[in-house]
Amino acid sequence: MTNSFCVLGIESSCDETGVALVQVSGQALPQLLSHALFSQIEMHQAYGGVVPELASRDHIRRVLPLTEQVLQESKRALTDLDVIAFTRGPGLAGALLVGAGVACALGAALAKPILGVHHLEGHLLSPFLSSDPPQFPFVALLVSGGHTQLMRVDGVGRYQILGETIDDAAGEAFDKSAKLLGLGYPGGSALSILAVSGNEQAFKLPRPLLHSNHLDFSFAGLKTAVMVQARKLAIAQNCPVDALPQAILADLAASTQAAIVEVLVKKSLTALRETGLMRLVVAGGVGANRSLREKLNLECAKCAVRVHYPELHLCTDNGAMIAMAAAMRLQAGIQAASDVYAFDVKPRWPLDSMVLA
Ligand code: KG4
Ligand code: ZN
Repeated sequence: MTNSFCVLGIESSCDETGVALVQVSGQALPQLLSHALFSQIEMHQAYGGVVPELASRDHIRRVLPLTEQVLQESKRALTDLDVIAFTRGPGLAGALLVGAGVACALGAALAKPILGVHHLEGHLLSPFLSSDPPQFPFVALLVSGGHTQLMRVDGVGRYQILGETIDDAAGEAFDKSAKLLGLGYPGGSALSILAVSGNEQAFKLPRPLLHSNHLDFSFAGLKTAVMVQARKLAIAQNCPVDALPQAILADLAASTQAAIVEVLVKKSLTALRETGLMRLVVAGGVGANRSLREKLNLECAKCAVRVHYPELHLCTDNGAMIAMAAAMRLQAGIQAASDVYAFDVKPRWPLDSMVLA
């Protein structure tokens, strides 16, 4: 392959179908040509969570129209594609198989190689798609729906996990608390909107492992504390939790968000201090949270640390981050695309296994 090539990225690990096209030109940062996304959230909302079988079927419906859309928008033809990248894991097996199957079929039909991408590496590298891309090395706070990790990142494939959650992820704490308050699924964004009108000091909720001398997280107890608090209020008001007055729900939402954000901010600052690095990169769906961004910006400004985020619309799952991660691995020469068209997905896949030997 020449050092100028075009990568198609397909994301189908959960409830969003994303397709994108990224152009690599020499050693310059790869450029996003176009991306398209279809969110299944509305479809799953009726069930209160993702229904894997429905997710797989919907990915099948969306992936080719989205591929046509990105080709059209970037004025490229199928024959202009040099590499077909797809999310290999972690994620829902059936959903992953759709992206893998389409990537293999396209690769075989076009005689172009494929590359299976680690979903979390996609999130981790997504800030490189922003107008203010970071530079290595940095501390990364990876906060997605299923993962919460602090990492030292020295380059593509050079990751050292400094701390991670021992139970629920921050995204799960948002989602489970939101569900409890009757805000539906996935509730992180809804909870943060409701929190705007609430008082974050209204309820004293636990800050798990805030003062521990390591960088691990634990959010399972917080969800239980929110539940206990909400039930107490519901008994006092003689109504179900989700029928509590809006002002009380807003106070609960604000107090929950404040607890999660405080832990994330404090541990990020400790990781920066311990590594001596002056750059923080936030990635994953929870990185869209406005309160988290405001508090991190404030605290990092105090110690002259630069903070980088993905563009808001690229915080949650998308194809652009998958195309970008593939492009950056290829560009760095640490992985080659393959012409073995095997549907080989990894529903469970720790990020450590992507680390260069
Ligand atoms: O990274 P992501 O799209 O999916 C995974 O790879 O897991 O993250 C989804 C998570 C969900 O837990 C969702 O509630 C949360 O990100 N999220 C938010 C916000 N937007 C999305 N959490 C808090 N505040 C938000 N604004
Ligand atoms: Zn994700």
